[in-house]
Amino acid sequence: MSGVPSAEQVPAHVAIIMDGNGRWAGQRGLPRIEGHRRGVQNVRRLVESLAGSSIRDLTLFAFSVENWQRPPDEVEALMDLLVQFLRRERRQLHKHRIRLRGIGRIHELPARVRELVAEVVAETAGYRDHALNLALNYGSRAEVLDATRAIAADLAAGRLAVPPETWEEYRRYLYTGELADPDLVIRTSGEWRLSNFLLLQGAYAELYFCEVPWPEFGPEHFQAALASYARRERRFGRVRAPVLPVAPAEAV
Ligand code: IPE
Ligand code: IPE
Ligand code: MG
Repeated sequence: MSGVPSAEQVPAHVAIIMDGNGRWAGQRGLPRIEGHRRGVQNVRRLVESLAGSSIRDLTLFAFSVENWQRPPDEVEALMDLLVQFLRRERRQLHKHRIRLRGIGRIHELPARVRELVAEVVAETAGYRDHALNLALNYGSRAEVLDATRAIAADLAAGRLAVPPETWEEYRRYLYTGELADPDLVIRTSGEWRLSNFLLLQGAYAELYFCEVPWPEFGPEHFQAALASYARRERRFGRVRAPVLPVAPAEAV
């Protein structure tokens, strides 16, 4: 048997709650922003490895709706880092044909972030094989409220005849739209919670928590998460698939 996992064992969509930047910096006597800076370097490395992998979607939790409650200088620095990241990574996204999506209340971001995100999203929209989805000003509860409001507006305007009756109809109103659900959600830095991230889309995601803070989460840790995923059995509420007996080959 080869050691290469089958396509089914490789998650098509990996989502990451990149946590622990601030504590990583604090433990080294550095300002929190240094942790964020290191965290961004890590993101670049991960994004560049996407092209050669069979992972289709990588979704990164970069800024939550709750993160506005942090000190203003930290919020400002995070927005600056985001702009720097997009400026630098733009060329790599084209080179590796990776599509950028923004999920969250993008319209509430500062103009310099919002406009750059919109530009890169538009110019990479044609790439089909891989996508980097940045959760920016994202929160699942805000997303549900926004989806509900959008449905109400469509009903009132006659764009929708009846309210969605199936999840397939409803999910199109989420920020993630047609994006497939995450198969694997990773959270770094030893916190075992989801912090309002992809709560509906991740209903059947496999969860992986590790102690490593995000600035130190390297390819070996990512491989460990993928290996853990490959060992799991996803049942989606069903029972385990029976092992069918192999029919004897017919004599020729
Ligand atoms: C994650 O690291 C990055 C963002 C939330 C933007 P944190 O900044 O939450 O780091 P800790 O959890 O305080 O260590
Ligand atoms: C979640 O991390 C948000 C991001 C990683 C962007 P937080 O650090 O904000 O979450 P809590 O506050 O520990 O739940
Ligand atoms: Mg944190």
